Amino acid sequence: MKYGHFDDLKREYVIDNYRTPLPWINYLGSDSFFTLLSNTAGGYSFYKDARLRRITRYRYNNLPLDQDGFHIYVKDNDIIWNPGWQPVQEELDEYQCRHGLGYSVINGKKNKLSVKQELYVPMNDNILLDRVTVTNEGNEDKTVDLFSFVEFCLWDAMDDSSNFQRNYSTGEVEVVGSAIYHKTEYRERRNHYAVFYANRPVDSFDTSRDSFMGVYGSPRQPQAVVNGSCGNSIAHGWQPVGAHHFHLELKPQETFSVIIGLGYVEVPVAEKFVAPGVINKKYAEDLMNRYSSDEQFDEGMNRLRRFWDELLSRFEVRTDNDVVNRMVNIWNAYQCMVTFNMSRSASYYESGIGRGMGFRDSCQDLLGFVHMIPERARERILDIAATQKEDGGAYHQYQPLTKKGNSDIGGGFNDDPLWLIACTDAYIRETGDWDILNEMVDFDNNPEVAAPLLEHLRRSFNYTLNNLGPNKLPLIGRADWNDCLNLNCFSEHPGESFQITGPSEGPVAESVFIAGMFVKYGRDYASILKHLGINDEAEKATEAVERMAETVLDKGWDGQWFLRAYDAFGQKIGSDECDEGKIFIEPQGMCIMAGIGVETGEAQKALDSVKERLDTKYGIVLLNPAYTTYRLNLGEISSYPPGYKENAGIFCHNNPWIIFAETIMGHGDRAFELYKKTCPAFLEDISEIHRTEPYAYCQMVAGKDAPTFGEGKNSWLTGTAAWTFTVLTEGMLGIKPDYDGLTVDPCIPHDVREYKINRMFRNTMYHITVKNPDGVEKGVKSIRVNGTEVPAGAIRANGASEIEVEVIMG
Ligand code: GLC
Ligand code: GLC
Repeated sequence: MKYGHFDDLKREYVIDNYRTPLPWINYLGSDSFFTLLSNTAGGYSFYKDARLRRITRYRYNNLPLDQDGFHIYVKDNDIIWNPGWQPVQEELDEYQCRHGLGYSVINGKKNKLSVKQELYVPMNDNILLDRVTVTNEGNEDKTVDLFSFVEFCLWDAMDDSSNFQRNYSTGEVEVVGSAIYHKTEYRERRNHYAVFYANRPVDSFDTSRDSFMGVYGSPRQPQAVVNGSCGNSIAHGWQPVGAHHFHLELKPQETFSVIIGLGYVEVPVAEKFVAPGVINKKYAEDLMNRYSSDEQFDEGMNRLRRFWDELLSRFEVRTDNDVVNRMVNIWNAYQCMVTFNMSRSASYYESGIGRGMGFRDSCQDLLGFVHMIPERARERILDIAATQKEDGGAYHQYQPLTKKGNSDIGGGFNDDPLWLIACTDAYIRETGDWDILNEMVDFDNNPEVAAPLLEHLRRSFNYTLNNLGPNKLPLIGRADWNDCLNLNCFSEHPGESFQITGPSEGPVAESVFIAGMFVKYGRDYASILKHLGINDEAEKATEAVERMAETVLDKGWDGQWFLRAYDAFGQKIGSDECDEGKIFIEPQGMCIMAGIGVETGEAQKALDSVKERLDTKYGIVLLNPAYTTYRLNLGEISSYPPGYKENAGIFCHNNPWIIFAETIMGHGDRAFELYKKTCPAFLEDISEIHRTEPYAYCQMVAGKDAPTFGEGKNSWLTGTAAWTFTVLTEGMLGIKPDYDGLTVDPCIPHDVREYKINRMFRNTMYHITVKNPDGVEKGVKSIRVNGTEVPAGAIRANGASEIEVEVIMG
């Protein structure tokens, strides 16, 4: 069943049934100010860091679902309703929500009254704009009352939801005309406040939640709305809110519109106050003045559209499959930008207070993003690298506001450092910017021990070699990519962390997955060295890599597939000898991507085993058979009921690794078959089963062992976005940046006869046409550039602003 449809021309997903199986959200904001917005106008805003600078409140896990947000209330005689249906849930005559790129439009109609909310965050300004347009579509005069409402968060979202003895007393506001200032904690240590304003005079306002809602009131029936007027309250402590009220008399066909803004403002410390206790509003006024007319509102929206037009024009594909086109050209690229901005910090499933930016997560997010805004990717690489420890290890997470590693979780996730090589290499291939390797970058945010970025890569590489176990495979540490494979922790009591309990980083447990990574990204590291002319070291690196590849085949091969790991007692994990968890997906994908066993047959065997044991109609499960009991030596992975999360869920993030592996083996039909299984747009028709947004990947789909097989969870913030984008564009469509040019080596379904791609690469637009006259799945017969045949290999543009490339497969 569908709850809407794709509008590809407008690049929107159009929801016309408000009872979506879960809130279907959008992300507004592209740089510092962000808003999560659901299809019924639920959500919240924050500045840079969803924990430390939360601007509005959101109650996760609440009932009724998704009641906090940016709702507009309408009182039309005795009927109270919202254009987005929530929170009142009064049935609407018509409803539509259009989620677009960085904006959403929600339009509800009831009793001949249309109310439309157009919401976006403009480029380069810290403000959420909401233009509300009310139209009397009937033939009689109408008298209605319109209310806006937001509930402020007291900045630190963790404190806000736990430290009530303090925060019930801190709330402070000021009101000037239609502008409500949330200045809580500004008097002492903060130099920032929020402003909630309207570009028209209000008939009344509220800043105290008790006044607007009523002490025992509810968002479903706010007291002020019932009364038809706010109480002009000034909050002192408790819960400061912002509410505007407009009393409207509308003739038939008459329209009223108001721009409402929620801004975040920082004031230089010396200028904080204009009089004792009176905040300096100058910066807020400047901000409000930039968005006080419809022309300004529209122009801001146009700038946003131009921004996305430009970004998306850097990679455009035309195949005869609309679903593929819309994913690559619009939604997957969009999600890559969102994951780049958010890492795993703030979604409807990540509370924004739990973790900051993940080291490995952010490195991987870059893979799908670097071609869009290389400058921001560069900055991010340097930020991440600056948190690296001197021994080459990495903090597992860092806070986006401070850019410092989180010491509560620390390091010791032994795959982390290698991802830094992965993203730096991808960046250099994309941009040719070798200079980045000379940038001086701190270790552990300490400028005294700064070293060139190349040195950071060197230490990443050596970190693996310095941490080998008894089989000469890499030690796993606290966990590798699979955060839940906790082979050293032995967490036995409730409340003990699965990852940092007990010895946590033992000298025995080894990861075949990290070994695969070391081979794959170690090769890249060696090519970088070679390119720089550091030949001795390049050779040594290559030797270490080849040794590791042999070790994998020797100690990491189980007969029909790659082993997953050795545990703290030296016992095999992911082996046919095991009673459960006989085979895992991760090493099959990573080792084959690294080229291990491709020539000697193991790779094919491993893929056959994946097909036989892990494949389902909704994607490939993480392991099989699922663990049915908790196992102290394995940790969190066995804490989940069978079929969920890392315990045999379909973890979408690593499905593309298998797809990549299939393309390496030349299996275009199979690669595409697998691609479709987890691709949300291909699942639109079964939204009642899949439940999450048909335009965004989710982290996990319940596996075949789960009662809810096929149900998606944790949409939006997942490495799946970057990996599916990369596997489709590089692995299947075959467009891969190389140090000296762009290579084209497709692996596609045999019945695809032709497709076209526009790809911006280092300031040249490559117009590429791929033809497949013989119906093959892989193989390039000839390449022409501007009509002239060129040798196989990287295609250079020699400074041209555009080139035509024709690739004939066969
Ligand atoms: C989550 C984490 C990621 C990890 C994965 C598997 O997506 O963000 O870092 O690799 O789970 O455990
Ligand atoms: C990853 C896993 C999740 C686990 C978490 C621990 O995100 O997906 O299951 O709880 O890591 O940090």
